[in-house]
Amino acid sequence: MDKDPVIQITGVRKYFRDVKAVDGIDLSIPQGEFLALLGPNGAGKTTLVEMIEGLQKPDTGEILIMNRHWKGNEHFLRRILGISLQETRFIDKLTTSETLRLFASFYGIGEGRIEEILELVRLQDKRKAYTVNLSGGQRQRLALGIALMNSPSILLLDEPTSGLDPNGRREIWDILLDLKKNEHTTMILTTHYMEEASFLCDRIVIMDKGKILALGTLEELLTVNQSDEIIEFIVDGDPETLNLNNYPWFKKLNWDPYRKKVTLLVTEILQALPDILDRADPDNHKIIGLECRKMTLDDLFVSLTGRRLTD
Ligand SMILES: Nc1ncnc2c1ncn2[C@@H]1O[C@H](COP(=O)(O)OP(=O)(O)OP(=O)(O)O)[C@@H](O)[C@H]1O
Ligand SMILES: [Mg+2]
Repeated sequence: MDKDPVIQITGVRKYFRDVKAVDGIDLSIPQGEFLALLGPNGAGKTTLVEMIEGLQKPDTGEILIMNRHWKGNEHFLRRILGISLQETRFIDKLTTSETLRLFASFYGIGEGRIEEILELVRLQDKRKAYTVNLSGGQRQRLALGIALMNSPSILLLDEPTSGLDPNGRREIWDILLDLKKNEHTTMILTTHYMEEASFLCDRIVIMDKGKILALGTLEELLTVNQSDEIIEFIVDGDPETLNLNNYPWFKKLNWDPYRKKVTLLVTEILQALPDILDRADPDNHKIIGLECRKMTLDDLFVSLTGRRLTD
């Protein structure tokens, strides 16, 4: 990596009694990088981000931001960090601009910035609306606006688009893409959405159970398993009795018993298909909805964890 890391995480652990929320994470984030923490519920994303934000302390390990620890550097780090928490509560009886004004006053920032933020997060026509009357997407944009108030060089966004419909999500993405043009801004974003991670971020960290399972650009993540292809189908009966695992093309089989869906990782679709069809006898293994494709991030997640990212 040619740039010095802006955030350096070494051997960080955080346990809550027997829950290993974050279980030994090492991560180095260079300046200007947009990084996604992608993982299912309970993966440890919020706990990790909140430790970077100085809101929680690691049990062990070290987090350095611009070569500084939180201890003794709170004032400096608060100034350069922009934070949006997983859940933001606003004061209902304040309007959008009054809310921004309140945060501007915390930072000692002048009125001019409020207009800039309203424009940046596209809430100009909601400046006089009470926060209680904002839509979900507008609330998330206001939370983003607050995070951007102090023109942070490091932005930490915990699920900035969760619960939004594709339009609402797209509006947030547009704002973040604009920020990305400024190559000094470093961003960490947590998400359940694979499209979000792949569309916005330079590198993706796949997390589960407090650990990093994979890390890289989308391309790197998918080409590590370059030779792998996917065959999916619905089958009546136990797929293990198809005895597919002795074929040379076989790599892995995942079985979702609720959907009766088999996801097969194979080296070569064209080799595998005739064998699968050969094994499927209509009495015991009726196969429907057969689908073939190249590996996606979702497939990678399933092959790493045995589960889907979102259901
Ligand atoms: N203060 C706490 N006390 C006890 N357990 C906690 C605490 N905070 C988090 N946990 C547990 O640690 C694990 C990781 O939680 P965390 O909130 O970091 O996950 P997450 O990846 O952000 O999940 P989500 O996608 O649902 O937001 C979970 O099992 C959670 O129940
Ligand atoms: Mg979370």
